[in-house]
Amino acid sequence: MIKRLLCIGAGYVGGPTMAVIAQHCPDVEVVVADINHDRVAAWQSGRPPIFEPGLEEVVRRSLGRNLRFTGDVEHEIGEAEMIFVSVNTPTKTFGQGAGRAADLQYWEKTARSILHHARRPVIVVEKSTLPVRTAEAMERIFKNRRQGQRFEVLSNPEFLAEGTAITDLESPDRVLIGGAETPAGQAAIDELVDIYARWVPRERILTANVWSAELSKLAANAFLAQRVSSINAISAICEQTGADILSVATAIGTDRRIGSQFLRAGVGFGGSCFQKDILNLVYLCEQHGLPEVARYWEAVVTLNQHQKERFVRRMIRVMFNTLAGKRIALFGFAFKANTGDTRESPAIQICQELLAEQAHVCITDPQALEGARQVFSASTDRVAFESDPYKAADGAHAVALLTDWAEYRALDYRRIYAAMERPAFLFDGRNQLDPEELYQIGFNVYAIGRPDRTSL
Ligand SMILES: NC(=O)c1ccc[n+]([C@@H]2O[C@H](COP(=O)([O-])OP(=O)(O)OC[C@H]3O[C@@H](n4cnc5c(N)ncnc54)[C@H](O)[C@@H]3O)[C@@H](O)[C@H]2O)c1
Repeated sequence: MIKRLLCIGAGYVGGPTMAVIAQHCPDVEVVVADINHDRVAAWQSGRPPIFEPGLEEVVRRSLGRNLRFTGDVEHEIGEAEMIFVSVNTPTKTFGQGAGRAADLQYWEKTARSILHHARRPVIVVEKSTLPVRTAEAMERIFKNRRQGQRFEVLSNPEFLAEGTAITDLESPDRVLIGGAETPAGQAAIDELVDIYARWVPRERILTANVWSAELSKLAANAFLAQRVSSINAISAICEQTGADILSVATAIGTDRRIGSQFLRAGVGFGGSCFQKDILNLVYLCEQHGLPEVARYWEAVVTLNQHQKERFVRRMIRVMFNTLAGKRIALFGFAFKANTGDTRESPAIQICQELLAEQAHVCITDPQALEGARQVFSASTDRVAFESDPYKAADGAHAVALLTDWAEYRALDYRRIYAAMERPAFLFDGRNQLDPEELYQIGFNVYAIGRPDRTSL
């Protein structure tokens, strides 16, 4: 039985995943190491550096018992029996494959560091989302091992969603473990299965070969993103024809073959994963001589861009073709509710386009204001940040709701309307509000894929 686990990378995946493992395996010492010392200090103080419902309680339950965070990556490698690699794998921004391929520099540095500092046989677990056949590259790096060193590489992609990370980890639809089809590979798989089996029913722990596990993660994110782009494509037709996307989504979703999840039209998907992973898949297809397959998946990203542009275009059109000098309140900056994560948030592009129209933008968000400040504070004096949504909307010509925070459904829109310029516009980019009610208050209401309600 494994007694000492190390996770390299204390981010959105590494921190919550290890906290849940530590909680369910009190006899296993769980260490999370990161080169970002501020992050390490925050985790170690019991106040996680990321917002995730329920996370703080889970961390505090094991912190000081069998869970700890450290900046000393190299030392911990020497002590570990199993090492999860959960470092970031963003889209490459330079050189060959820029804008598409995964940037594997952090991952490779980690692999080399494991090679140099491991002092006993180690099972290395890929937690980061990686291109297919990365495990093979890792094994090749490990081929230069010193005498006595032994490495077995597993792929254990993480399927948690930000905002519901703790419930996803506590009760996953499945855990996927890929390993080599050899006795040593099987033994390593069994070790990892034994850890998850402490709280995940055995039938939900799937095993596969490494390449299948790696590809499954990319494919799962591609399918999810494709559903979002599909419903958003239909929302565009709705706006042109007078059909209502909510009725269409209900009618589609009641077909059991399709299912009702992930059929909510909106301003588009964001987050650090969907776009990156699809582009990674596109690059993989191109590399393997499958240009038609590459174009198919690429269209999911193109449509997502288009949806954000369409949203702003509609704002400009109905607001008399000019936004210059107008105050616009953005309700929500995180890429989804219940997270402070702003990576690839649709709000970024929408805000940039509004600024290009010379609008004055006031951003509000319950958790992501700091993230918003990091993106925009230096760039212009036409962006303001406000934690109170009522103040953000005070004197505004328009409110654009961009994140599906429950808080925004509970606001007093009469009060908001009373403090706005006339005519008052409300753009519901997440179909969170009742357009009829808002229209009765006096708003001009424009929701995604739903008929205009213009009052003036
Ligand atoms: N965020 C999600 O919802 C999610 C879900 C599933 C899978 N993933 C995948 O998991 C991986 C990690 O994602 P994340 O969102 O946690 O990223 P993140 O940026 O929040 O965290 C990565 C951490 O790795 C650290 N790091 C980088 N290089 C290091 C090194 N050499 N040694 C030690 N630490 C190092 C960074 O400092 C950072 O704190 C990515 O591959 C991502 O695609 C993310």
